[in-house]
Amino acid sequence: MATSGDSGITSLRGGAIDAIRSCDLDRKTALAQETASRWFARSLSLRSPLDAVMPDRPGRPDRPVLIPPKLVEKRSLHTQKGRIALLHAIAHIELNAVDLALDIVARFATEPVPNSFFDGWMQVAYEEAKHFRLVRQRLRDLGADYGDLPAHDGLWQAAHATRNDLTARLAVVPLILEARGLDVTPALQARMRETGDLESAAILDVIYNDEKGHVAVGAKWFRFLCAREKRDPAQAFRELVRANFRGPLKPPFNDIARAEAGLTPSFYRSLTSTSNG
Ligand SMILES: [Fe+2]
Ligand SMILES: [Fe+2]
Repeated sequence: MATSGDSGITSLRGGAIDAIRSCDLDRKTALAQETASRWFARSLSLRSPLDAVMPDRPGRPDRPVLIPPKLVEKRSLHTQKGRIALLHAIAHIELNAVDLALDIVARFATEPVPNSFFDGWMQVAYEEAKHFRLVRQRLRDLGADYGDLPAHDGLWQAAHATRNDLTARLAVVPLILEARGLDVTPALQARMRETGDLESAAILDVIYNDEKGHVAVGAKWFRFLCAREKRDPAQAFRELVRANFRGPLKPPFNDIARAEAGLTPSFYRSLTSTSNG
């Protein structure tokens, strides 16, 4: 890890923006983790006049090619090709998650929230960077790499729609998209184990446990913002999701893991049919 000053991090927001802008994924993930570590060590200010300008889109390498979500092929776990395709899709989700966590920090660094808000999201950014690296290394062990296959751009688009509203952003990113990960991951792990891919299943264990924490960070701050605005959180969630997220939420839900993270069924149950537009 670079020592203080080497990477030119100007502040928490500045380090987050530099990481978002970086097209080099080793640098992006290293900057995300270094910024997090220095923020936790209380050696960075929240903002600086020297911070770079927030980009419209995160920096990405030339590959993977981005395609509409509908064109991404379905994959079977019974072939090496299918296994790689699935890991590639997970790597892509984790990479987006790095940028999305950093985007919350950088874009909303002027919000009147306690510093512990930024602690939570930098912890998320740190862990997403770890997830991306773990999955990328697994791809390399299988003779592939991130960038070999096309990927879709849906995650960034979903987040972009809420760039002006922190409460809506938390409803969509941690409480819809990351909570969805809690629903689908256990079954995916079971299928990986059935096909003998214990290494990949072990990586998903790490991811699954961390993701419970990410949903919890989202729920904690979503409730905080609702309390400040004197809104009922479950009702506000439903309204914000209908206004900012396309498509229904797909059951079955992992009610236990969701509830442990603070996301109770009153938030999402009624959205399974009514948001189907
Ligand atoms: Fe993750
Ligand atoms: Fe996450």
